[in-house]
Amino acid sequence: MTYSNLLVENRERILFITINREYKLNALNKATLAELHEVVTASAHDEHVGGLIISGAGEKAFVAGADITEFADFNADEGRELAREGQIKVFDVIQNHSKPVIAAINGFALGGGLELAMACHIRLAASVAKMGLPEVSLGLIPGYGGTQRLTHLIGKGRAMEMILTGDMIQAEEAYRIGLVNHVCDSADLLPKASELIKKIMTRSPFAVGCAIRAINAATEAGVNGYETEVSEFSNCFGSEDFREGVSAFLAKRKAEFRGQ
Ligand code: COA
Repeated sequence: MTYSNLLVENRERILFITINREYKLNALNKATLAELHEVVTASAHDEHVGGLIISGAGEKAFVAGADITEFADFNADEGRELAREGQIKVFDVIQNHSKPVIAAINGFALGGGLELAMACHIRLAASVAKMGLPEVSLGLIPGYGGTQRLTHLIGKGRAMEMILTGDMIQAEEAYRIGLVNHVCDSADLLPKASELIKKIMTRSPFAVGCAIRAINAATEAGVNGYETEVSEFSNCFGSEDFREGVSAFLAKRKAEFRGQ
């Protein structure tokens, strides 16, 4: 499958997805979001994919936001549809993916770009990366989950300041406040993201999927995360991976998980 706005490559069961509109700083237009929906959804059922790494083409930007030219003349209904469709088809699909999804933030992650990174399970940033939700400068607010995910990740007070000022922060500051998990040189970004995802891929894929669902439940409105944990914990006992993990431990050998 070829895409017009993405580069997609499977190397050693890691699906590398690169947003490829460098001349527009990888801004997310409708076509790019549709392709992201397609590739991310398909990867969930692809046995050849163990995890996903999302980054941006070029050295300057991860993603500089939603494509402003596409919604410049939208009315309230069109705005609602834009946010709702994007959230359901892309950002929620990434957050709820049963396989690990890592954002490798290689440059500007602004607006929808930071929202994309925040929908991923883990974020790594290059030291040159800058992040922010500048929507209020355009007379808007974040619409792809930014007000919610930023608040969950860094707390209400800091989220208020970032969103109300629209200011960008540097990678080191993002690390300090827990917005990204690691910061490294640009050249090390993809190798480090690969190393991390490979480690996760050696664990039980079944259990990793259960853990993602249980952790996500912590921030889902109206859901009792402790109950979700009990239920996902219980599901693990019915899995082949559980039998394999325990037998491997008792036999003092390396587990060979099949994700079932
Ligand atoms: N939507 C559409 N086009 C965008 C874009 C976006 N979010 N971000 C950047 N671009 C385009 C620019 O319009 C420019 O296109 P052009 O060459 O046809 O004029 C190209 O990408 C390069 O960007 P430019 O602004 O010239 O680069 P810069 O180095 O001067 O500034 C930024 C970089 C990231 C600070 C600046 O592009 C910016 O502020 N972008 C918008 C960020 C934003 O508000 N995002 C939230 C959207 S909801």
